[in-house]
Amino acid sequence: MSTANRGVVYKGPGKVAVESIPFPELALGNRKCQHGVILKVITTNICGSDQHMVRGRTTAPEGLVLGHEITGVVLETGRDVEFLKPGDMVSVPFNIACGRCRNCKEGQTGICLNVNPARPGAAYGYVDMGGWVGGQTDYVMVPYADFNLLKFPDADQAMEKIQDLTLLSDIFPTGFHGCVTAGVGPGSTVYVAGAGPVGLAAAVSAQLLGAACVIVGDMIDERLAQARSFGCETIDLTQDGDMPDKIEAITGEREVDAFVDCVGFEAHACGCNHGKEAPAAVLNSAMEVTRAGGQVGIPGLYVTEDPGASDEAAKQGSLSMRFGQGWAKSHSFHTGQCPVMKYHRQLMQAILFDKVKIADAVNVQMITLDDAPKGYADFDGGAPKKFVMDPHGSVAA
Ligand SMILES: NC(=O)c1ccc[n+]([C@@H]2O[C@H](COP(=O)([O-])OP(=O)(O)OC[C@H]3O[C@@H](n4cnc5c(N)ncnc54)[C@H](O)[C@@H]3O)[C@@H](O)[C@H]2O)c1
Ligand SMILES: [Zn+2]
Ligand SMILES: [Zn+2]
Repeated sequence: MSTANRGVVYKGPGKVAVESIPFPELALGNRKCQHGVILKVITTNICGSDQHMVRGRTTAPEGLVLGHEITGVVLETGRDVEFLKPGDMVSVPFNIACGRCRNCKEGQTGICLNVNPARPGAAYGYVDMGGWVGGQTDYVMVPYADFNLLKFPDADQAMEKIQDLTLLSDIFPTGFHGCVTAGVGPGSTVYVAGAGPVGLAAAVSAQLLGAACVIVGDMIDERLAQARSFGCETIDLTQDGDMPDKIEAITGEREVDAFVDCVGFEAHACGCNHGKEAPAAVLNSAMEVTRAGGQVGIPGLYVTEDPGASDEAAKQGSLSMRFGQGWAKSHSFHTGQCPVMKYHRQLMQAILFDKVKIADAVNVQMITLDDAPKGYADFDGGAPKKFVMDPHGSVAA
């Protein structure tokens, strides 16, 4: 067997390159991972979370191998893996979780206590997330494999729906979690901030949960058109005007039942200032337009350090929020990594039984691993697409 491996490597702000990297081992430094497996990567997606690093908006070190959205086939199993075998096709939750700690036992796999010495929670190929090697590669190691991996019932059937199933590692569960934590249910009116892949996944999820009206807001025309393509209402935030007026024009009411922030700390201001960053813009509109007693789901990422922030406070992740407005309306806020495992099996079934067309909604675009630099650049330019890499040409074949 060849032990060659390639990966997409962060090379400093604005730059990624495909380089040759070591073949994975069942270890992370001195830490033995006999509970892990080596996967042959079938698909691996570029995420808005990667963009924060590639734009130089985090403390990610140069040389980091990127990639936390991974689907693969088991190549080799560690001594302590009991229930997976070579040839199994699996979805990898982007959160790395031990399955043994207090948080994992409570289903909070996004804040596992045993996989990152620096803080709760870990992920593949991500700054401050435990140093686990990313999966925008030919091969990758997944620890605690029996606990983490979701095995597809049939590998051939999975290959037929791979463009949908590849989204189970992150954005479909993340969008769904954003809606669940915003309290979306039958008949809800929902505002989704951001029409990137996570926003579009949240919008489809809101529909799946029975929302009456799903409104998506963004500044990018093509992304709003993508949201309209599957039945969402849209708000073009480059236009001046108050959010309550814009929502009233669609639903007849000035507030929504549920609000999902799929933007995060790189948010831009609305209206004539849309070229400028305003990191608390989405959080402040959440408090303005969510009904009293409503919930706000916040999958959009907020950082503890932002070297590229425009003011000193924001460099430490301190944002200027009108928190009193949310307090006065008894709002609930739900933040953090999506605990993917809470949702991935159900959403897999929804895909396999044709209850949802997630790949169409987010407009999956397949590319090769060598095309990663162009994929990153196009995605950064606001393309209305979710870029999915096919390192071995398995999907193309
Ligand atoms: N919590 C989690 O587990 C989790 C998982 C995946 C991604 N994320 C985060 O979700 C966010 C979205 O990811 P993505 O891949 O869709 O990224 P993306 O960058 O493609 O999309 C963000 C969109 O927000 C738009 N935007 C900017 N300011 C806005 C505003 N004020 N109102 C509305 N839209 C605005 C941008 O034009 C862009 O289209 C990122 O912050 C990402 O890190 C979190
Ligand atoms: Zn992601
Ligand atoms: Zn744990």
